[in-house]
Amino acid sequence: MTDNMRDILVATTNPGKIKELRACLSAKVNWLNIADFGNIVEIEEDGDTFSENARKKATGYAKSTGLWTLADDSGLVVDALGGEPGVKSARFSGEKLTCKDRTLIDHRNIAMVLKLMKDAPEEKRAARFVCSLCLASPIKVLIETQGILEGRITMEEIGTNGFGYDPIFYLPHLKKTVAQLTPEEKNKISHRGKAIKNLEPLLKELLKNS
Ligand code: IMP
Repeated sequence: MTDNMRDILVATTNPGKIKELRACLSAKVNWLNIADFGNIVEIEEDGDTFSENARKKATGYAKSTGLWTLADDSGLVVDALGGEPGVKSARFSGEKLTCKDRTLIDHRNIAMVLKLMKDAPEEKRAARFVCSLCLASPIKVLIETQGILEGRITMEEIGTNGFGYDPIFYLPHLKKTVAQLTPEEKNKISHRGKAIKNLEPLLKELLKNS
């Protein structure tokens, strides 16, 4: 800890997520990146729920680094597919995601959802993005929050912004897919934005008392 700033490790290698956290959370925090820790052992996301995965990563990395650690897990839940892709969102087409082929895998995952949903009528196309966040110290879970964005699965890809399933996730109230929103518009309404917003007051309170 330096100058009343609390060091918190963000358990992600995605620089976009750290940027998003910095932008959304005004609390006095020195955010650290997992890439700053050379040979840290990777923790597998093999839980059955988003919150289980976030908790597993936060507590695991907090124990191995001795730092408060914030972890997230997120994905797409489609009612007509019994909740799938769910925790398998990143690897729904069967391939493990690596940074290099992220766009290709995103397209294959989308193709898989569209194929499985091809005969689903309009009223059976409800879906949601879910994001679970967990902040843990090396000895216990400190905060858990969640954010949800409700929408519908389109029949085809529309829009080029964002990542993952954004081009097939339609927001009826905006008459656009998430891939047609600017990053600022997305952050304001997204599951991740909401989970971060829910975290902010709890984190401020925790920092006041620690
Ligand atoms: P993770 O939480 O970064 O592991 O995300 C898991 C997977 O869920 C991603 O690879 C995407 O396929 C999907 N996903 C999570 N959040 C979003 C989003 O905001 N838009 C589109 N897809 C998402």
